Amino acid sequence: MVKPLEWTGGKLRFLDQTKLPAEELWVETDDVRVVHDAICRLALRGAPLIGIAAAYGVALAAQQCPEEEPSPCRFLSDTIHMLEQSRPTAVNLFWALNRQRKILLANPAASIVLLRHLLLEEALTIHGEDRIMCEHIAEHGITLLKPGSILLTHCNSGALATGGNGTALGIIRAGREAGLVDHVFVDETRPLLQGARLTMWELMQLLVPATLLTDNAAAFLMHQKKIHAVFTGADRIAGNGDCANKIGTYSLAILAKYHAVPFYIAAPVSTFDASLADGNMIPIEERDADELRVINGRLMTPIDAPVYSPAFDVTPNELIAAIISDRGILYPPYKHAIWEMVKNNKL
Ligand code: MRU
Repeated sequence: MVKPLEWTGGKLRFLDQTKLPAEELWVETDDVRVVHDAICRLALRGAPLIGIAAAYGVALAAQQCPEEEPSPCRFLSDTIHMLEQSRPTAVNLFWALNRQRKILLANPAASIVLLRHLLLEEALTIHGEDRIMCEHIAEHGITLLKPGSILLTHCNSGALATGGNGTALGIIRAGREAGLVDHVFVDETRPLLQGARLTMWELMQLLVPATLLTDNAAAFLMHQKKIHAVFTGADRIAGNGDCANKIGTYSLAILAKYHAVPFYIAAPVSTFDASLADGNMIPIEERDADELRVINGRLMTPIDAPVYSPAFDVTPNELIAAIISDRGILYPPYKHAIWEMVKNNKL
């Protein structure tokens, strides 16, 4: 299975996901600005992965910090601030950067040599923990699957989006290995086609039978009773269980409710943000208009057609049958269960 990023020889090596599946372009960098840019343009994407990448970005900045720098902690705090501006919705980014910030706060007078060591150790730990969290999510998630399951997923929540086998896609993969999944339908996920380009790429490599759909096709398939359950990831889960995920997830959840198809969200504890009472408080990223206007270099709309392009939407908790985390499966009402789960993992 592909590992979308790794620390090697004092550098970060990552797969530029904007090029997939046509090209497997690996980038090797020792510059935090390259990591920042990669997160902004979705070369590195998926909620857990951008947290991991940002943590490594801080480790790179520590290497870039000159030894004569009078205030290395301030230098690195500025880097953390810069990385926090990259994408607003996935809370994993802020969760990972706060772990790095805590190291600075705990070692205000440390030399840059010591900070380099501590910040790299923390990034490697965050990366390793995410791999294990994916394993636990899959173990819990497959208990929801029945033999012969035909599933639908949206966007990409697989190995490309995490430090392990994925969240929702990790469950689907484990379910296939356990002989429980017969087929997967994959929404193409306009406008940046994470489903068509990335999820189909992963599933086809894993030899999981998968079929691509336009984002508009789900209702028709559900009406024909061809979908047994929907599994997606999340970018931020509020304290009441409202879940932000890729734009189009909310409409899928409404369709699932109408057709009595269970709708499941899978996410590690680093995706929960109990400081927010509900999903209305989740900041939603808006993307550049040209991501809608232009396909493969070709303008598809009148020049300067006005565009509104939220990258995420929020699915209200009442549409979600269960949330599968690495700590177990949460069922509605979510508020108490989420608080119990995250109380030792606050931002
Ligand atoms: O804009 P992206 O590609 O970063 O959006 C990713 C998603 O919405 C995923 O579904 C989510 O991050 C979960 S990934 C385990």
